Parts: sequence; structure tokens; C-alpha cells
Amino acid sequence: MKNSKIVGIGHCVPPGIVKNADLEEMMNTSDAWIQERTGIKERRWAKFGEETVASMAVDASKKAIANAGMEVKDIDFIVVATMSPDYQFPGVGTQIQDQLGLGYVGALDIRNQCSGFIYALSTADQFVKTGMYKNILVIGAEIHSHRLDKTPRGRAVSVIFGDGAAAVVLSACDEGEEGVLSTHLHSDGAYTEELMAKGPGNLVPPLPVIPNDPDFFPHMNGRAVFKHAVIRFSEVINEALKANGKQVEDIDMLIPHQANLRISQFIQRAMDLPEEKVFNNIMKYGNTTAASIPLALSEAVEEGRIKKGDLVCIAAFGSGFTWASSLIRWNF
Ligand code: ACO
Repeated sequence: MKNSKIVGIGHCVPPGIVKNADLEEMMNTSDAWIQERTGIKERRWAKFGEETVASMAVDASKKAIANAGMEVKDIDFIVVATMSPDYQFPGVGTQIQDQLGLGYVGALDIRNQCSGFIYALSTADQFVKTGMYKNILVIGAEIHSHRLDKTPRGRAVSVIFGDGAAAVVLSACDEGEEGVLSTHLHSDGAYTEELMAKGPGNLVPPLPVIPNDPDFFPHMNGRAVFKHAVIRFSEVINEALKANGKQVEDIDMLIPHQANLRISQFIQRAMDLPEEKVFNNIMKYGNTTAASIPLALSEAVEEGRIKKGDLVCIAAFGSGFTWASSLIRWNF
């Protein structure tokens, strides 16, 4: 059986920077409140009619393919994690296939919110392991900014989220070679309503949509999310370590889903990891859900914080609730 390894990575964020100060009047919030509660200083918001989830995913994918020293035609499957596809249907994978100019390869959309990238990586890993595909694009891409309640009513949620995309190329390697060591996926639907957007969906009245209906904006029970996140993050990181016979000290870099800097700091202390072994970039991008882990991975690699041979742990928690982790031996 084959193994899989990450051989290239790239990211794309929209140029539009939105600082906390820009939200103060719009949402009756303050830079101090946002920074104190979330660590976020600014985020990127896509410009309507310019960047799309597909266009950012394509840009990130081209960078990842070039970083892998490959050509677009080498890609034989696409797995894209997003909770904000450009259309209600179809999923965004098909537009990525088309805009990349790929042949008629399969394109799979994954809907697992903040855990989406790890679910996507795990799915791609299985396809590589069975020998079905050799080089898979695994993408996380989101545009949240068009669907946020940008009034004071939505401030507890809307200050947190940002837009962006990142991609990796996952390739087959021989069984003895280390790459993706394991993936671990979980869910608990009992908490669906703690973090969700109800509409459009089958449990909200059918069209026409009432303008400003709160059901069509994200809802979050912030305290419940915080409480569950800190427990599940530690649990799922320990699960990955145990599955591979590793200790916390073996981790060279932990990339937690960039939910909230306070959650990342809590995990770092709970896991007894030194600060320099946890990478965060939520300060610059806010929470980009499925894009957050590959975006952080990409920047960590770019900044030389992750090097060949490093043991990298990625972990996520989010809406569903879902949570997941993976241990990866970095290959370049
Ligand atoms: N600006 C100013 N005031 C605000 C804002 C805001 N943006 N949002 C809420 N408030 C006010 C509230 O109205 C409330 O005021 P009141 O006391 O006069 O009623 C006060 O701040 C406290 O509100 P809470 O909702 O209780 O705020 P809390 O202290 O719980 O902080 C937060 C909210 C930051 C969301 C916190 O619960 C948290 O960190 N939760 C973790 C969830 C999270 O980070 N999720 C990220 C996305 S989900 C994911 O990726 C897994």
C-alpha cells in the first residue's frame, strides 16, 4: 500500500484588509474588545464581484502545484473543503477543475466547516493509499464576508471571520516513506445549534427570504464553543500522538485551526508546549474556517518555521460539532 505526503503548498488571500477600527462604527464594537477576546487585529474581506472562492482556490492551487515542481496536468483529483461555495449548488470543486484547465478529473466538496481541511486531507490520503490517485489537490477556501451580519446584532460572530484560501498537493510515496502519518476524525451532532447558519436549508421557511432574517446569518454560542473546543483539541492531539507512539515533546510545530487566539493559547498551555512550537496567524486573517490550517501551514513554511523532517501536528474543532487531527512528517 502507498503512503501519502505533502509535496507543495500555497495560499491566496484577498487584498482588502479590514482592520478592527473599520468595524467599530459598523458593528458598535471596539478594537480593544476584539483583540482582548480573540487576538484578531485585522482580516481580509473579498471584494464582491472580484475574488470568488473558486478564483482564490485556483490561485492557491497554482502556487502549490508550482511549489511541488509539478504542472497542472499532473493533478488527478480535487478535494476542496469549504462552507461558503460560490453557488448554492453545485459545489465549488467543479469550478476549480474548470478554471485550472484540468482535464475531467473528479472534484469532491467537503462540508465540515473548521475541521474541513483535515477531513479533506484524510479523504485524499485514503484515495492515495488505495492507489486510486497519485497527486491530489487538497484545498481549503472560504469567503465569509458576504454572509456576515455586519450590524451590531451580529458583532459577536462577524468580527471573527475572514476570507482566504490555501492548497496542498498530496502525492503518493512508498510505504516506508513518512508523510501523513495518521488522521483522526470526530463529530457530535448534539451540538449542531451551538454554531450554525440555518438558512438556506430545509428547516427554514421556503423562499422568499426575508431580508436580514437572522436565520440566514451565522449563530454561535461562543461560551459553549470555547468550552468544547479546548477539551476536544487536547483530546484529538493526544489521540494522534498515541496512534503514532509519539510524545508531546516530539511535536516540532502545532498548527491549530485558527478559531480564536485565546483558544490556541489555552491549548498550548494545556499541552505544555513552548510558545514557539505553536503557529498562529489569526491576528492577520481572522478565522477562515476550512482555509485556516493550510493558510497557517503555508505561512509557517514560507517563514521557515517548518522545515524538512519536522513532525507537524494539525488539529481542528468547529461547527457540527466536528473535530480532527493529523500528524505529518514534513517532506520539504
Ligand atoms: N464588540 C463589543 N462587544 C461585544 C461584541 C463585540 N464584537 N460581541 C459581544 N459583545 C458584548 C456582548 O453584547 C456582551 O455585552 P453585555 O455584557 O452588555 O451583554 C458582552 O460583550 C459579553 O458577551 P459574550 O457573548 O458573553 O462574550 P464572551 O465574553 O463570551 O466573548 C467570544 C465572546 C469572544 C465569542 C467568546 O465566547 C469566545 O472566545 N468563544 C469561543 C468561540 C470562538 O472563538 N469561536 C470562533 C469561531 S468558531 C470555530 O472556529 C470553532
